[in-house]
Amino acid sequence: MLGLLSDAHGNLAAFERGVALLRAKGAERIYFLGDAVGYIPTIAVIERLQAEDIPCLQGNHEAMMLSRRYAPEREAAYRLGEIAALLPRDLLRWVSEWPTSRVVPVAGGLALLVHGSPKDPTFDYVYPDSDLTQFIPGDARIRAVFMGNTHRPFIRDCGNVRFVNIGSCGLPRDDGGWGSVCLYDPDDNSARILRFPVADTAQELRRRYPDLHPAVLDAFARRSEGTPYGELCH
Ligand SMILES: [Fe+2]
Repeated sequence: MLGLLSDAHGNLAAFERGVALLRAKGAERIYFLGDAVGYIPTIAVIERLQAEDIPCLQGNHEAMMLSRRYAPEREAAYRLGEIAALLPRDLLRWVSEWPTSRVVPVAGGLALLVHGSPKDPTFDYVYPDSDLTQFIPGDARIRAVFMGNTHRPFIRDCGNVRFVNIGSCGLPRDDGGWGSVCLYDPDDNSARILRFPVADTAQELRRRYPDLHPAVLDAFARRSEGTPYGELCH
């Protein structure tokens, strides 16, 4: 069983909760699909990923942090210059070595892991209502595609491919109170989105970092109409 999580954005407590939930549900291998940093000025998630030896992908926030290529007015929300200054050289080098995609062997074929989409693995956004036909990979062996970046989880089939956006463990945007991770069984190509409470972690981050950008506070405060997507794990 594989466990996948993404978009922690410095929320270490939520990240740890997501990893613990995946392991409790039987995940033997864990993958992180990018955006360990951004919005919350800490490198704690990167340190934990390295300590746990978790294979990672570069998200758009890592890519922007490394290249410094983003509109300067975004820094107030992203805080990537601040975060880069906190990173020791060895960790910065480690992050720069993260690939932008991975292919893992699964029963009957392959699974593709990206942050964005199969077309643009780092910067694309694939939403619950996106047209998926444009994202069907050219390689017919790919049975499943796992993505992050939108912070909005879904599982949908298109062609012969299962598309899964695994959502965000640390800064979910469909419902700021419920982190999202994915459990994937490569033997039968089945995926589950698991949700777990993170409202208390947001409260703690607001206390520790009183100057978080309004966009972050808005995401924390957002609540979905009805039940959040996926299986609620209390
Ligand atoms: Fe993100």
